[in-house]
Amino acid sequence: MKIISIVGARPQFVKAAPLSKELRKNFREILLHTGQHYDHNMSPIFFKELSIPKPDYNLGIGSGSHGEQTGKMLGAIEKILLKEEPDLVLVYGDTNSTLAGALAAAKLHIPIAHVEAGLRSYNRKMPEEINRVVVDHLSDLLFCPTETAVSNLKLEGITRGVFNTGDIMLDSLSSSLKAAQRKSRTLEKLNLKSKTYLYATVHRPENTDNRRNLKNILDAFGESDKTIVFPVHPRTQRMIKEFKLKIPKNIRMISPVGYLDSLQLQVSAKKVLTDSGGIQKEAYVLKVPCITLRTETEWKETVKDGWNVVVGANKEKIIDSIKNFSPKGKQNNYFGTGDSVSKIVKIISNY
Ligand code: UD1
Repeated sequence: MKIISIVGARPQFVKAAPLSKELRKNFREILLHTGQHYDHNMSPIFFKELSIPKPDYNLGIGSGSHGEQTGKMLGAIEKILLKEEPDLVLVYGDTNSTLAGALAAAKLHIPIAHVEAGLRSYNRKMPEEINRVVVDHLSDLLFCPTETAVSNLKLEGITRGVFNTGDIMLDSLSSSLKAAQRKSRTLEKLNLKSKTYLYATVHRPENTDNRRNLKNILDAFGESDKTIVFPVHPRTQRMIKEFKLKIPKNIRMISPVGYLDSLQLQVSAKKVLTDSGGIQKEAYVLKVPCITLRTETEWKETVKDGWNVVVGANKEKIIDSIKNFSPKGKQNNYFGTGDSVSKIVKIISNY
């Protein structure tokens, strides 16, 4: 069986790393990178740290408006699919690269497997929500990370080819956490002691492209008596400059970090503040309280267990949760046990 795996953005590299290794033991895998992310700390660093094979194709599409970026990918992916004639196209998550890959394959009647299927925020203003809904409806194999995801699909009438395989990010996390703690020098470099600082990431358009929201978030961070380590996404960096926002003194702005530093900074943080999906879940698994800078979350289980609080860009709520949010409760096994790669490979083999 010939499989084309399509990746393009940071979280997809993390998810593809463990699966690609296993796929190559059983099938012929061709790796296609759309080039959606291209900076050293946004793409090559992940390939190096996670020993992901060099992509067979890199389309070099880069940034652009949603329509332009997705459209360019669609045309370029179609050409490769026509040339390679794969038996299956594998897409990950919910980025524009996921949408373009699935759409190109569907139009050519090539079966599609979607890793991280069934997630919903029920907020169609999020570009990712549109991508997820469309990709799930086009997919033949839908690998869900949780039972909630399986139920979400059922509500939309999708029941065939649906499997709860657990969350693939746990496979990545469990195989990299020790390496992160051994190899990462980030705490030393930043002169930080474990559990004395907060870790923050902000990259969603609803926060970065809205002056009031971005200012609220930075101002709230500034009210904390703790150092806040803040790896800054290129878009966030650009918008801080464009909006001429002041950076409070306790915020340590650093360049985007690779996977190992990211894990090390999270596991050693007192609390995490984020609008990322993946980081909410990583924080949960690492037992670090998470304050989510969004108005809703796809990872409801983390909120249900009390380890995640959803506060949006509300300054008072952020300040309050930085001070007072300190969960201690038991955690449940919602995301599986880190063996989703073997489950996925088995299902693909029987397909
Ligand atoms: C994308 C995904 C998002 C995911 C995120 C992970 C979509 C719709 N969004 O968002 O779901 O959580 O990746 O990081 O696909 N840029 C650079 N260098 C890069 C990449 C981007 O400078 O290597 C800048 C460009 O100014 C670009 C902006 O970041 O315009 C946004 O990049 P883009 O790939 O469009 O979306 P992300 O916000 O990264």
